[in-house]
Amino acid sequence: MTADHNALPLDETSRAALAGHGLTYAVLDTSNTAAFDRFVQAVYRGLHFEALTPEQLTEYRAGFGHARSVAVHDATAAEADTPVATVTSWRTPLSLGDARSIEAWAISLVHVASTHRRRGIARGLLEGELRAAHAAGIPIAMLTVSEATIYGRWGFGPAAYCADYRIATRELTVTAPATPGRVHLVEARALRPRAPGIAARAHERVGGEVASDDLHWDRAFALAARTASHAPKLRAARYDDEHGEPQGFVLYSVNEHASDFSAHTLTVEHLCAATDDALTALWHFVLDQDLVSTVVAELRPVDEPLEWMVSNPRAVETIARREHLWLRILDVPAALTARRYAAADSVVLRVSDSLGFATGEWMLTTTPDGTATVSAHAGDPHGAAVITLGVEALGSLLLGGTPVEALRIAGRLAEGFPGSAARFAAMLHVPRAPWLSTWF
Ligand SMILES: CC(C)(COP(=O)(O)OP(=O)(O)OC[C@H]1O[C@@H](n2cnc3c(N)ncnc32)[C@H](O)[C@@H]1OP(=O)(O)O)[C@@H](O)C(=O)NCCC(=O)NCCS
Repeated sequence: MTADHNALPLDETSRAALAGHGLTYAVLDTSNTAAFDRFVQAVYRGLHFEALTPEQLTEYRAGFGHARSVAVHDATAAEADTPVATVTSWRTPLSLGDARSIEAWAISLVHVASTHRRRGIARGLLEGELRAAHAAGIPIAMLTVSEATIYGRWGFGPAAYCADYRIATRELTVTAPATPGRVHLVEARALRPRAPGIAARAHERVGGEVASDDLHWDRAFALAARTASHAPKLRAARYDDEHGEPQGFVLYSVNEHASDFSAHTLTVEHLCAATDDALTALWHFVLDQDLVSTVVAELRPVDEPLEWMVSNPRAVETIARREHLWLRILDVPAALTARRYAAADSVVLRVSDSLGFATGEWMLTTTPDGTATVSAHAGDPHGAAVITLGVEALGSLLLGGTPVEALRIAGRLAEGFPGSAARFAAMLHVPRAPWLSTWF
């Protein structure tokens, strides 16, 4: 990651719109320590997180200084040096499964001070990010959201989902077959250097994953100032395959039951598997702990094979399921040709986009080997399926995790003629539900 994010020109339309409100809109110089610290503290206040300590700020600057941080200032505010609105973005690959990826514009830290809300500042920031990314040739933007009601208006659609599970481990036995490798109990600190490499291989297997930065991993391993107090509780195990190669790991903690020493709760904090064996072995390890009666795992894939790994599927309770990764397509041909398809067919996509980036009639043609071509199309579809949809629905469909039929029934897309939705669904099918295992 380099400073080239910061070389993306600031969007002139948003600058002018915000200037109309008496606000300045500028890319922050993150080498200016005092200014960057004020930026970060403003974000943490806006998102209702605790203020960062000097040590945490130092870590933050090292971890996030590379990203493009845009700040809005109000010269009339009492503390005029503190931004009243922020957004941070960076280029990073988004996995598409099948060892494929696409360059994406990750957008984070969207915040408007409570004193400045509902006057169009977020609109200026979001539209500015999208225009800047589009102008730089980045085909897709993405974010994770605290509220699911905000970003659809700018063409984002939910594309990867997550689930939280609670498992009553005394009510089941693990039925999944034994794996040829071994699970080792290890120190979290010792595992930390291996995590990004294992995760990179895990990410190739599924759409929706985004690589985490070092600060994220340090926090996950309780090695960052902000999470260090968790270190005594954090436990780790690693799965090595039959050749001794690490293929997965789990970070977990155990909370004691108040009165029953044999009924503790184990929380899976991060379970990462680069192979099916690693996934099976690590779940087996987690579900088979003495003195534990409940396992809780959050932010897991919606198609986690847990129910099928145990004797009693009812002991596995899905306690939440929600959208997690939102995608916004900026370049239809680049986005649609980046992934593989499950069926050879053709579909004409009539896409509407209020910001104009994706608007058009596009012919998507796929071949038996799964590759695709996309061209601008007009007129007779010549036997191709025909789908009319908004750019947010196309973003939802890109990774294959959103059912085409559900969007059709809900009126989010329309068929040109009966059967078009089913044909498009067959093309988009993926073997594993897209999943993003972190927040960004
Ligand atoms: C959410 C937030 C960024 C909105 O900023 P804002 O400057 O008030 O938003 P704008 O005035 O530009 O509003 C743009 C549109 O979004 C809508 N909107 C704003 N906040 C919304 C919310 N929380 N829920 C639903 N709609 C919202 C506005 O009604 C407006 O709708 P329109 O399409 O009819 O114009 C701001 O309230 C905030 O920082 N909240 C706390 C932090 C947060 O939630 N950040 C988002 C992290 S994912």
